[in-house]
Amino acid sequence: MGRVLVVDDEQGLRDALEVLITSKGHVPTTAKSVAEAKDHLSRSFFDVVLTDLRLEPGGDGMDVVAAARAVEDPPEVIVMTAYGTREKAQLAISKGASFYLEKGPHLATDVQVLVAQAINTRRLQADNAQLRQALVGRFSVGGIVGRSEAMREVLDLVQRVGPLKTTVLITGESGTGKERVAKALHYAGETKGPFVPINCGAVPENLIESELFGHMKGAFTGADRDKEGLFEAARGGTLFLDEIGELPVQLQPKLLRALQERRIKRLGAVEEVPVEVRLVAATNRELEAEVRAGRFREDLYFRLNVVQIDLPSLRQRREDIPLLVSAFLRQFSEEYGREVLQVEPEAMERLLAFEYPGNVRQLQNIIERGVALAVGDTLRTTNLPKEVAHAESAPRRVISVQDDSAFPEEGVDLERLVEDFEYGLIARALEKAGGVKTRAAELLGLSFRQFRYKLSKFERRRDGGARG
Ligand SMILES: Nc1ncnc2c1ncn2[C@@H]1O[C@H](COP(=O)(O)OP(=O)(O)OP(=O)(O)O)[C@@H](O)[C@H]1O
Ligand SMILES: [Mg+2]
Repeated sequence: MGRVLVVDDEQGLRDALEVLITSKGHVPTTAKSVAEAKDHLSRSFFDVVLTDLRLEPGGDGMDVVAAARAVEDPPEVIVMTAYGTREKAQLAISKGASFYLEKGPHLATDVQVLVAQAINTRRLQADNAQLRQALVGRFSVGGIVGRSEAMREVLDLVQRVGPLKTTVLITGESGTGKERVAKALHYAGETKGPFVPINCGAVPENLIESELFGHMKGAFTGADRDKEGLFEAARGGTLFLDEIGELPVQLQPKLLRALQERRIKRLGAVEEVPVEVRLVAATNRELEAEVRAGRFREDLYFRLNVVQIDLPSLRQRREDIPLLVSAFLRQFSEEYGREVLQVEPEAMERLLAFEYPGNVRQLQNIIERGVALAVGDTLRTTNLPKEVAHAESAPRRVISVQDDSAFPEEGVDLERLVEDFEYGLIARALEKAGGVKTRAAELLGLSFRQFRYKLSKFERRRDGGARG
């Protein structure tokens, strides 16, 4: 069952459509002018708006299209045109209508088919959102979400290495989830102690030694009492050395010693004490290059690099984006006490096309902002930052048609041939996408809306062919 708003200035047609829509189990509401339509749109919720493009006196159906697109949870819009005003209909499509149909002998059938399809689309959108929420659970370990080949390897490593006390070096660009993986490793083990992070790049050079190893009273000016270092604080747990590439060279031997001996000495102390700590280090620098440049000790590098987990940039695993989006929608919906769990297909397209120099963290920020700005339960393109909303998809391969056969004597029907070619590709893309229309659209380099439009044309041609 769907709610359908019918906008037409002809009483007879309104009545007929009302009967037709009711007979299909949907609930119609009628309006005879732009003003009436706007009034209904502002007060009630509709799944579908079916509007004439020409509304007497002087009304323009395009205004209904715009008003429908502007509401919280926009309905699918179908426009009706008089025969031979196709350009206008196409303009309406470009402004956000999903389908158009021509008033004519097939009007009743077309309305039935398209209304059913529009309602179906809306249901599918809702289902997809729910489906993805379920998938997040299946494809995550310790809060790391990912289903790409690369991330599955990471998750597998985390599960295998986590419970061991092995030292792990995590590498990856900023925002790829290094700290998140470090925590997952920590929690994958039977942890008695805490997870203790230190950012080697953020602590002043002269303080980092006492931060790590602690000091005794009087060890240096200002050391007015004994202080435990982070190695001791992390006892039984994990010490996370973030931005290890920033560790001053003169401190590196001391860290190496602590790693090898599992003993440390506080600054100014005489005795060494044993520390039972798991070490995880992270860097977004090429440590090997740092070694070659003499800024990082090779022996320490080898000691840290027992197991390496390399996190791919988000650009290299775009297939994780929808799942991450779902995870973040849930997270921020909970934080903000909202229910923004769906994404408009166009918005998802833009999110898939963006480059993400800041990787997962940037995507997370984009979704947080989106949840805060979204009206209703759906994240839309308008809720995305400008640079994302205007992201261009990667250039597509152009298939060239090379038919070596001679040009037929009698000539060809070019439009027909081009259409056939187009429809053939659409059918193949759909098959390749396992029937998932958003994916098929992606494969064809079309927006979801363009795709849906072409598909409906295709289906109508097919159905029309069956009739005639
Ligand atoms: N695979 C993932 N699944 C869920 N959340 C993730 C994932 N990867 C990263 N995040 C989230 O993205 C944000 C950034 O991740 P994190 O802080 O771990 O990145 P980082 O690699 O340590 O970045 P930097 O190098 O800038 O310190 C965090 O809020 C983290 O929870
Ligand atoms: Mg980090």
